[in-house]
Amino acid sequence: MLGIIGAMKEEVELLLEGLEGEERLDYPGVTLHRGRLDGLDVLVTVGGIGKVNAAMTTTYLLTAGATQVVFTGVAGGVHPELKVGDIVVSSDCLQHDVDVTALGYKLGEIPGENLSWPADEGLQALALEAAHEVEGVNVTGGRVVSGDVFVASPEKVAWLWQTFGAACAEMEGAAVAQVCARHGVPFVVIRSVSDTADGGAEVDYRDFMPLVARHAKQVVRGMTRRLAHAQAELQAQAEATGE
Ligand code: ADE
Repeated sequence: MLGIIGAMKEEVELLLEGLEGEERLDYPGVTLHRGRLDGLDVLVTVGGIGKVNAAMTTTYLLTAGATQVVFTGVAGGVHPELKVGDIVVSSDCLQHDVDVTALGYKLGEIPGENLSWPADEGLQALALEAAHEVEGVNVTGGRVVSGDVFVASPEKVAWLWQTFGAACAEMEGAAVAQVCARHGVPFVVIRSVSDTADGGAEVDYRDFMPLVARHAKQVVRGMTRRLAHAQAELQAQAEATGE
């Protein structure tokens, strides 16, 4: 079952509209919507903003039976060539606000954990393929960095680019990645650039939210269509060989 998380209502409401056979699963502070998209069993949820909410919601999703996880939403562009509307598919995720350097660890490194969590290659490929179907946007794979900070200054953007080689900055992806990695569950983060994370971030962000939410929906539905198709083919093969 595919778990789909967005931080905010705007990021998943277009997906919820298309959900068939909806059933609600209530957890403290979070509702998971179970149903089908393109014939594929999914769990869709609004997880809330920030890493703690993301980690908590991911744990609920995995407890409810998600076997792979997609995070969809908006991000501030960090890579100098990214523009509003462009789509980033995560190669890996890292927490840019973790600092245990005083004890000799690398910036972003949580003692006892990897510095970053790589996304599943199959889900990455699927997300990239689906994103390329969205007209008029550039699609790139790259590092998604997360922190409990809305990045809104050119200095911070330059720092994130130079220190981590980040493609974009957001507030949840690496928490989802960390929980998924702990459970051995594949994940990918898909982010539409809503702002360039500099001084004008708030203005861009509000203006472009409806557009990027539509793009995010298109990418996720492109993935659910492909996953449903692959599942149907496997089933047909199993039936043909009498398994
Ligand atoms: N999500 C969208 N834009 C963002 C930004 N500039 N910083 C952090 N998260 C974001």
